[in-house]
Amino acid sequence: MTVLFSLVFCKALNCCEGDVLLLLDSSGSVANREFSRFLHFATILLCPFSLGRGHVRVGLLQVGTNPNLEFGLDVHNNQESLQKALQSVSQLQGDTNTKAALRVAQGLLTETDENMPKVLLWLTDGVEPGDVGGVMAELKVQGVSVLAVSTVHGNYQVLQRAVTPPLESHLYSVDIDDIDIITEDLREAIIKIIRAERLRVVDLTSHSAVLQWRPVLKVDSGYYEISYNSLGKAGPETKRTLSGNSSWVELTNLQPDTTYTAALHPESNQRLFNTLSVNFTTHVLGPTVVSVSDSGSRQIRVSWGPLQPAEVQRYTVEYGAFPSGEVLTVTLPSQQNSTLLTGLQPGTQYLVTVSALHRNGKERAMSVRACTQEAALPALSDLHLIPVEHQEVQVVWQANQEGLKGYWLSWERQNPHTYTSKPSISSLYLPASSRSTRLKHLAPSSRVCVSPVYSSGRGEGLCCTAERHTDWLS
Ligand SMILES: *[C@@H]1O[C@H](CO)[C@@H](O)[C@H](O)[C@H]1NC(C)=O
Ligand SMILES: *[C@@H]1O[C@H](CO)[C@@H](O)[C@H](O)[C@H]1NC(C)=O
Ligand SMILES: *[C@@H]1O[C@H](CO)[C@@H](O)[C@H](O)[C@H]1NC(C)=O
Repeated sequence: MTVLFSLVFCKALNCCEGDVLLLLDSSGSVANREFSRFLHFATILLCPFSLGRGHVRVGLLQVGTNPNLEFGLDVHNNQESLQKALQSVSQLQGDTNTKAALRVAQGLLTETDENMPKVLLWLTDGVEPGDVGGVMAELKVQGVSVLAVSTVHGNYQVLQRAVTPPLESHLYSVDIDDIDIITEDLREAIIKIIRAERLRVVDLTSHSAVLQWRPVLKVDSGYYEISYNSLGKAGPETKRTLSGNSSWVELTNLQPDTTYTAALHPESNQRLFNTLSVNFTTHVLGPTVVSVSDSGSRQIRVSWGPLQPAEVQRYTVEYGAFPSGEVLTVTLPSQQNSTLLTGLQPGTQYLVTVSALHRNGKERAMSVRACTQEAALPALSDLHLIPVEHQEVQVVWQANQEGLKGYWLSWERQNPHTYTSKPSISSLYLPASSRSTRLKHLAPSSRVCVSPVYSSGRGEGLCCTAERHTDWLS
């Protein structure tokens, strides 16, 4: 026997992401004709959805004496395969053990991603469904939306308690021959639950926007066309064609502080897809570059650009030790593009934020992190005086800095022939490579000082007092 199979075509709704589990009454109380109509109804109802992971996943669980999972949520990822499966379901007959089937449904719907919207669609003749209240309540607490279609009015109250509100769109009682009239409404109700924002703006600057979508095309099965334009201004639309394997696009050369509308049209020779659209507003133009230079142990120079004196009223620079230091603010006129922040802590990370206050009242900011240098070591350390002979010492020091010009030494000198006269101050300049020298005719208890000499002048040095040698006086 050949199975006649006809595929139902409909316009693809690339709208949604979620799980839809059909709970189909397959018991003996359902007439054979009724059962086939239910399956056909499900086929038409689900026909527009893109199927599979990242789209809509559909499973079918049959209610009989024992539940029968006809196919799980991961089985069908295209309409052809789903529709074939729906057309070849055979009826179980037997009792209407809905409760047992609901336990299986609960397992299937709760083991998957909990953030995914989930729908349990119960198709029943409404005859003796059994005690379903408890499991239905649990399912609803677990975030499952329960919708029901019944063909007999008898157990309306049971169904009424079973579905999630709103009743008007989640519960349908209809004669099986008229079931087609509820297709649109029920599909709308399902879409409301599983609708996903399909074209999203994931990154926005003053001049660009990155749009992202869930891929619906395969590489060779088509291409995307993106078109965008600023809203309200009747300028020409910008259009770009993107390969079928793309899932994002960056729109560049946009105007700042402008609302755009963008439309993505998947073009395929196999299916008809609807166009997705999104509106977004680009950021107000602010500093696009903030940089740091001349960072010392206590200061940082911050520069920014570009200057926009026509739009910007003033800049403020906020800075504080990261993450928890006090934040200080300086305000600068609109023509200034750098400032020196001083009085900072050495070896500390600072968060520096430059904000442009625009004339229209909007503010735009950009931040950078910058570190001050470790506190500099003193230029000199470890100054020693080593007695050598009568009134002579060897002066030894260590240098910690590069780039010195030399050293300046000073000491008190005693004229060897006139011990009674006052010592005079002598000084000596030594080249940068020096680390020691010998001083003669040192006065008793003389101060000996060594200072670093920079190109800008003499720096802070170190001093030592020579030991008083008793024999100096003999
Ligand atoms: C998409 O396909 C093109 C070739 O058609 C290839 O060059 C490109 O790398 C692919 N991109 C991705 C993201 O796979
Ligand atoms: C974008 O804005 C226009 C005009 O306000 C509106 O008609 C349209 O529905 C919006 N589109 C989206 C996707 O929000
Ligand atoms: C700051 O302005 C000066 C001229 O006023 C310019 O030379 C310099 O490049 C600007 N710096 C930045 C970071 O824009």
